[in-house]
Amino acid sequence: MITMWDERYSEEGFAYGKEPNDFLRAEYSRIPENGQVLCLAEGEGRNAVFLAKHGYSVTAVDQSEVGLQKAQKFASESGVAIQTTVADLADYDLGVDVWDGIVSIWVHVPVALRKRLHRNVVSALKPGGILILESYTERHLEMDGTGGPPPSQRELFMSLYELQEELDGLEFIFGAETDRLVSEGRYHVGESAVVQVVARKPA
Ligand SMILES: C[S@@+](CC[C@H](N)C(=O)[O-])C[C@H]1O[C@@H](n2cnc3c(N)ncnc32)[C@H](O)[C@@H]1O
Repeated sequence: MITMWDERYSEEGFAYGKEPNDFLRAEYSRIPENGQVLCLAEGEGRNAVFLAKHGYSVTAVDQSEVGLQKAQKFASESGVAIQTTVADLADYDLGVDVWDGIVSIWVHVPVALRKRLHRNVVSALKPGGILILESYTERHLEMDGTGGPPPSQRELFMSLYELQEELDGLEFIFGAETDRLVSEGRYHVGESAVVQVVARKPA
């Protein structure tokens, strides 16, 4: 089945650019060096390639085969290797105590799936492993910036409060709802309302 994401990723260039997400770039070094990292809903691979260039062993999962094919090409052109798995997050087994880092950038899935996914993230991190997450908050609908769920799907936005509940079992090193200028390719541009989290599974 061709999804809206496959269509977007079939366009010329990179929908969210080739540079990593700004929050990930600022925080990635908290992930244990040379560790195993899982990038959730990773699309065209900009975050995965960045992390692989910094010595991590990266697995990128996304439902879009088109996106992950582009991610593989981008990785080889960048001189790094990444693992890619085409899967719906509803079916993907994150494992238990396996990841030094999990990266979740703009992963706006239905609420029941998100809650299950976040419970599985807590289990899947190794003790001492780090989650780095950035998502849009509902206030983004009042901002000039593009991106994020449409007004008809407000429930897909996230809040710090919800994330604290859903990620029970992790220690929050940093958690904030904030406004920032996002500039990521063609589809994420402008002043945006986001929630950012860095959290660690207790050792
Ligand atoms: C806004 S894009 C973000 C891509 C990437 N995280 C980034 O920062 O460049 C959202 C991604 O979520 C993926 N996605 C949405 N629902 C999904 C699901 N149920 N399972 C797997 N991937 C999903 C889409 O295919 C898309 O690549």
